[in-house]
This record gives sequence, C-alpha cells and structure tokens, in this order.
Amino acid sequence: MFKSIEQDFQVNYRYKLHFTVNLFGTGNTLLRDVFKEYGLHESSESGPFKVLFVVDDGVAEAHPRLLDRIDTYCEEYPTYLDRVETIVVQGGERTKNDSANVTEILSAINEKAICRHSFVVAVGGGAVIDMTGYAAAIAHRGVKLIRVPTTVLSQNDAAVGVKNGINAFGKKNFLGTFAPPFAIINDIEFLKTLEQRDWIAGIAEALKVALIKDADFFAYLEGNARKLRERDDEAMQYTIYKCAEMHMQHIAQGGDPFESGSSRPLDFGHWAAHKLEHMTDYRLRHGEAVAMGIVLDVTYAHLMELITDVDLDRIVRVFQAIGFNLELPIDTESEIKRLLNGIEEFREHLGGQLTITLISGIGKKHDVHEIDNDLMVEALHQVKEIANSKTI
Ligand SMILES: NC(=O)c1ccc[n+]([C@@H]2O[C@H](COP(=O)([O-])OP(=O)(O)OC[C@H]3O[C@@H](n4cnc5c(N)ncnc54)[C@H](O)[C@@H]3O)[C@@H](O)[C@H]2O)c1
Ligand SMILES: [Zn+2]
Repeated sequence: MFKSIEQDFQVNYRYKLHFTVNLFGTGNTLLRDVFKEYGLHESSESGPFKVLFVVDDGVAEAHPRLLDRIDTYCEEYPTYLDRVETIVVQGGERTKNDSANVTEILSAINEKAICRHSFVVAVGGGAVIDMTGYAAAIAHRGVKLIRVPTTVLSQNDAAVGVKNGINAFGKKNFLGTFAPPFAIINDIEFLKTLEQRDWIAGIAEALKVALIKDADFFAYLEGNARKLRERDDEAMQYTIYKCAEMHMQHIAQGGDPFESGSSRPLDFGHWAAHKLEHMTDYRLRHGEAVAMGIVLDVTYAHLMELITDVDLDRIVRVFQAIGFNLELPIDTESEIKRLLNGIEEFREHLGGQLTITLISGIGKKHDVHEIDNDLMVEALHQVKEIANSKTI
C-alpha cells in the first residue's frame, strides 16, 4: 500500500508600518527608501520597480494636487520608481460592492505587465485598501502591495493587518484573502481633510482594542475624548499609534494570524456592526456601526451581569463624548429579526463554533458561545433608551 506523504513548512512574514508627514513631498525619501531597501535585500533586481498607483476618488478630490505630486515624486527617483499608471477608483464602501473596481485593477495589472516583483500602491480609506488588496492578492497569486491609508480607521486598523476583501451576495467581506502587505505608510497630512464623521469613526476601533485588552488605553481615550473630538493632532497620533501597535501585536502574537480558530477578539462588536452596515445600505461608516455594535454588546454583557453599572456608564459616556451617535437604526420587528440573523452569519463567516467576544470588565475580553436572543432584544431596547436619554 502507498503510505501518506506529510508536508510541513512555515512561511515567515515581515512588514513595517512607517509614520511620516507629507509622503509625496519633494525631499521626503521614505517611499524611495522602501523600494531601495527591497532592491538591496530582497530582490535580484535593483530597480527601477514598476508601480501601479490606485487612488481613492475622495482623496483625489480633497487633495487636488495629489496625482501630480505622485507623478513628480516618481520622476524625482527614476532609479527606483517606474510609475506605470495611476488609477482613480470609487472611494467608500461602494468600491467593495461593485466588482468592476477589482476588474479595473486586474486589467491594469495585466496591461502594464505588473509582476510579482512589481508593486501596487493603494492610497485611500479602508474600503479602497481592502478592494485593491484583494485585486493585488489574486493577480498572479499575489503582487506586492504597499498601503497608504488615508483615514483614521484605515491607519489604525484596516490597513495594518493581513486581510483584504470585497462584499458579495449581500455579505461583508464574502470574498477576500489573507495577504500581508509589503509595507504600510501612515501620513498624518491626509487626515486633515477628513469629514468629522470619518475623523471620529476610527476611534471606535481604538476603543474596541482598549476594551478587550488594555484598561490604561481605555482610560487614555476617556481622558482625551474631548481633545480627540476637537481634532487634536497629538492625541490622535497617539491613538492611531497605540491602536495600530495593538492590532499588529495581536496578529503576530495571538497565535492565529490567518484566523483558523473560531475566536476572533478583534471582531468585538462586529457581528452587529457588519449587519448594520449592510441593513443601512452602507450609509453608516464601518466605525460608526462598530461603535453601535460595541455598545449593544456591552449592554448585553451588563444584562448578563458580566460588567457593572459603573463600567457600562463609562463606556457609553466615552463614545458619546467623542461624538458617536448610538441610535440604532432598527425599529420594526422584522428589522430586529434581520439584525439578529447577523449572529449566525458571523458564525458562518468564521466557521466552527459560534464565538462572540464580550467583556467581563474594562480591558478584559470574555468569549461566549451562545447568545440569548431575548436578552439581546432587551439590550437593543436599552441602547435605544440610552441613545435618546444620555447627553454629555
Ligand atoms: N481588512 C481589515 O482588516 C479591515 C479592518 C477594519 C475595517 N476594514 C474595512 O475598512 C472599510 C472602512 O474604511 P474607512 O473607515 O477608512 O472608510 P472608507 O474607506 O469607506 O472611506 C470613507 C470616505 O472617506 C473618503 N476619504 C478617504 N480618505 C480621505 C481623506 N484623507 N480626506 C477626505 N476624504 C477621504 C473616502 O473617499 C470615502 O468616501 C470597511 O469596508 C471595513 O470593512 C477592513
Ligand atoms: Zn472593524
């Protein structure tokens, strides 16, 4: 009889998140250096390297000189950068809802002969980064991606991890891959043109990691809520740095970077968030829906007597002080039912046993494997009351 043949190998991934100001400004050598380093250490070629730029239309609009500056920047460093094309794509969730965007990038990769030793540089919010990352990951089974996230949420969460994706069959991130980027570059300059809602939306992800892992960071966000709301650069820079660091550490040290298990603490508050985004036709930003999802789940945790009145109150207050609207856009019985279906869809997306992360105190994650629907409906009604009654 034939014996079985066993296969066993590890693949090591390493990537850096850089911080800079004015990435495409003349004299800023960071991007050039990223390519230079690749040429020196990781490639048999020393350059120039072909680069396809993909830019979010919201960013191009808010920064009218951006495309010219990218052009000029690449002309300044011809030894390393060979810009083959710049594509401007739809920004926001619609970019993940319409597969034509992926096709456009794949066509450019094909026409401009972008290979695995070439690069795609995605400049935009989390949605454009996710969509472009997916296209880059499936072309030639993976061309290199440099992410230049331009929103708070993408700088502190969406762009720093290993996932990409687009929406399909009415489900968030139904199509996607695990594909670590080549590098990420956070440029604070981009954040200045964000609408207020996008400035605060990403803070929901910072509160998320703080609540499941780090009571001190939660206290920082609580103490700086007003500064953050009023667009204080220093408070935001710290928040982004700390949140990105915690996400990256979790991926590397959590023991499950490609999520083969069924527990996913970084998705705290997300079963409801994903469903709410879809149910509102993506009028809610991801971060806005995450804020609602977290408040719903901590209210449920309070009803389960996992957390105290004081903790629930602190959590609700900090979200409100930062400026989040916690009014759930759920009114009818059928909407409640649709929302609750999100629990099973969440399980299906993860696979395996249902695992919902809650907290048993600030900074302490607590996984549960079943949700009591009646209690969740009660939590939902309580959140509605909280949203209507509490003011800062
Ligand atoms: N892959 C992951 O691990 C991961 C993690 C968290 C979130 N996400 C995804 O990220 C997406 C949300 O990303 P987001 O919150 O960045 O929102 P977004 O990408 O939807 O962008 C929001 C809006 O801001 C505009 N915009 C972007 N940068 C701008 C700038 N500097 N100035 C002015 N306007 C700008 C965009 O054009 C868009 O209209 C969701 O699809 C979510 O699922 C992915
Ligand atoms: Zn999220």
